[in-house]
Amino acid sequence: MSIHSDSTILITGALGFIGTNLALRLLKNNKKVVGVDNQEKTKSQNLQYLEKFSNFTLISSSIENPQLHKLLKPYSIKTIYHLACPTGVPNLITQGLEMLSACSIGTQNILDIALEKKASFLFSSSSEVYGNPEKFPQTEEYTGNVDPIGIRSPYEEGKRFSEALIMQYVRKYNLDAKIVRIFNTYGPYYSKTDLRVIPLFIEQSLKEAGLTIHGDGSQARTFLYIDDLIEGLLLIMNQSQPGGVFNLGSEKPISVLNLAKMILEISSSKSPIVHVPRPEHDPKTRLPSLEKIKKLGWQENISLKQGLSLLLKKAH
Ligand SMILES: NC(=O)c1ccc[n+]([C@@H]2O[C@H](COP(=O)([O-])OP(=O)(O)OC[C@H]3O[C@@H](n4cnc5c(N)ncnc54)[C@H](O)[C@@H]3O)[C@@H](O)[C@H]2O)c1
Repeated sequence: MSIHSDSTILITGALGFIGTNLALRLLKNNKKVVGVDNQEKTKSQNLQYLEKFSNFTLISSSIENPQLHKLLKPYSIKTIYHLACPTGVPNLITQGLEMLSACSIGTQNILDIALEKKASFLFSSSSEVYGNPEKFPQTEEYTGNVDPIGIRSPYEEGKRFSEALIMQYVRKYNLDAKIVRIFNTYGPYYSKTDLRVIPLFIEQSLKEAGLTIHGDGSQARTFLYIDDLIEGLLLIMNQSQPGGVFNLGSEKPISVLNLAKMILEISSSKSPIVHVPRPEHDPKTRLPSLEKIKKLGWQENISLKQGLSLLLKKAH
């Protein structure tokens, strides 16, 4: 837990999937949390779970709002989790500009607030900074293989720019900032309109609709349960040095076909498996090296089978 136990913790993107899970974890530990979110994607779907806590406050604002520091003036903020960013592969074209401005103008605004408040800062970067990797597993030293003008570039290059900006604040202003490159994570409180593979398969299995698999389903993916991710974020915030960069994810790959079969088995669903053509920009396979975060004492505790069972219990 944070050494600044009396202060308020700021979470940007608090109404999103990871933000809600992180906020709930902190609120249940009696921490004061202020969330900043523009609610565009989630339309306050998760707000009902957070506003039950008297120690939670929401500021409905974009992270790009130049007046945000004034709205945060009443709060003694010593810890900032900067998670806000438009997400989702289907949104790459429709929200590409918003991704780029959130990762540049938005991140700089939050960095300036961190400086003003003398707060520790953690940024949720992504495995997408490695692009279409040519090296397996990806260590934090690997610089990636990214097309700066490709379809995925608003997200990939956006995150890379945020990282560059953060490192300048560390080097120039000695800001206590950390970067976490998150690999696929799943769990409760994801957006209902999310098209990520696990929410989609669960929805399809509960509706007894066909589970749609791109191609033959042999493509491998890794998935980390949200509780293990949250443990990692708290650990990195509290135990790592300024300028620390960490991968966080699961290192246990599963094929999409076996994932579908596992979900059908756990949900006792009779849904068929339906193969559809692979889209042109199907996400690339990535595999994290987790040696750095393991040295901080982190490990994956919840297996995919356990995590899916927990999630399916909540989804019913
Ligand atoms: N979930 C994953 O597997 C994963 C993997 C890699 C990286 N990440 C990163 O973690 C962070 C959180 O991801 P998530 O899965 O919770 O996403 P999410 O889409 O569920 O949540 C993002 C939240 O940010 C808010 N937001 C977007 N733009 C904003 C802006 N300009 N101002 C204020 N709020 C804004 C949205 O309203 C939303 O509530 C993101 O930065 C994402 O890139 C997530």
